Amino acid sequence: MSSSTSGLTSHQMAARARRLSIFVGAAAALAGLMFGLDTGVIAGALPLLSHDLGTSDRTAEWIVSSLMLAAAFGSFQAGTLAERWGRRGTLLIASVLFLIGIALCALAPGVEVMIAGRICLGLGVGLAAFAAPLYIAEITAQSRRGRMIALYQLMITIGILMAFISDGLLAQGGHWRWMFGVIALPTLMFLGTTLMIPPSPRWLLMKGRREEAVLVLRELRGSPEAAKTEADGIELQLSHEKQAGLALLRVSPGFRRTFTLGIAIQALQQFSGINVLMYYAPTVLERLHFSASAAVWCTTALGVANTLATIVSVMLIDRWGRRGLLLLSTAGAAFAMLAFGTLLWTGDHSPALTVGLLVLFICAFAVGEGPLPWVLCSEIQPLRGRTFAISCSTLSNWIANWAVSNVLLSSLNLIGAHGVFWCLGAFNALFFAVTWFFVPETRGESLEDIEERVNAGVPLRRLGRT
Ligand code: GLC
Repeated sequence: MSSSTSGLTSHQMAARARRLSIFVGAAAALAGLMFGLDTGVIAGALPLLSHDLGTSDRTAEWIVSSLMLAAAFGSFQAGTLAERWGRRGTLLIASVLFLIGIALCALAPGVEVMIAGRICLGLGVGLAAFAAPLYIAEITAQSRRGRMIALYQLMITIGILMAFISDGLLAQGGHWRWMFGVIALPTLMFLGTTLMIPPSPRWLLMKGRREEAVLVLRELRGSPEAAKTEADGIELQLSHEKQAGLALLRVSPGFRRTFTLGIAIQALQQFSGINVLMYYAPTVLERLHFSASAAVWCTTALGVANTLATIVSVMLIDRWGRRGLLLLSTAGAAFAMLAFGTLLWTGDHSPALTVGLLVLFICAFAVGEGPLPWVLCSEIQPLRGRTFAISCSTLSNWIANWAVSNVLLSSLNLIGAHGVFWCLGAFNALFFAVTWFFVPETRGESLEDIEERVNAGVPLRRLGRT
């Protein structure tokens, strides 16, 4: 890289920097897309493959939820891999796992191979969901960091939506194997772009490879001076940033509070029931006497609502603040779930009310419960415990996701659909209460100010001053 950049005019360097940042943006966007595609595809495929492979409800639950359990394991290992092989190396491993997983699912002769494929996909999702935001945060210039992370979140919902649309198109012929097969194309694009992007400069500096880090920064920013200054800044930051986990939990009551809040809001995000709809909507709707194709297309409508409401959330998050949005979101989601349970209890299966309440729930979720746990977890944890706290809260998200998707069909049989949706409504109400009593307003606060107040033992709700 050194010989290729030396001797370039500043105009040429700026053009190279632009080209490179397009690849970085594409790789980040594709990582989000892969997450959405690989987790969303099962919704439309499940009723068809359950029929073809002759699975019981319990087996179907394992087909769905094995991905989440593997993702929990993957996210737990991701820190070590991202440290040893780098962020880009971890993304490459994830893309190979995606390819193997897609092939196994598409060609599965029986349940065992299908579950093995879902486990590969889960490991890939767990690794990518950890490494992609980290890579984005480390490589993007400070001024564009927020927007890039928001783009990543939005791409997850677009990936889910694309999976729903392709499921809808392929459902007519019962082509569930193709539902998995078509994902090979974006996976190959992901592998290709990941091969084109540079390693994270921050990771290179952590490994003491300053020269390479400066070269990467020079390529990215298009200016040798900016590259050196940025490398100096990162090195200074690294020298202050000794990470601590369990030890900090023992000595700091403030960290104990933010750590627990992070775990709680991530688990509550999953107990909201979002993935009951993301993974099982066609299965649930068919049980409510929707035709197979109506069920798949209603699911697509839910995917559209999810994407549009996420765009609204990205626009409101810095204007309305975190607390206001989350209170509105949890209240709306609790109302929609309780009303939906009541509708089912009365025996009314009218399509307009059913879809209307489910769309209301999705919109309420996507403006707050969806993105905010991720945003808040990255804002409230003190620097020294950040990596540890974020790993644990991400793990809590995956385990809760697994728990919900692992018992959904059995619970429908046990307490009926109305009982399941009432329970989910109660969890959303609990999320509202937790937000009311414990979630701080962090809008416009610097991370250092928040940290100072965590350490001084300020109660969670008053961590932000606004
Ligand atoms: C959030 C959740 C994820 C869910 C998605 C739906 O990102 O963490 O589990 O599938 O929202 O949009």
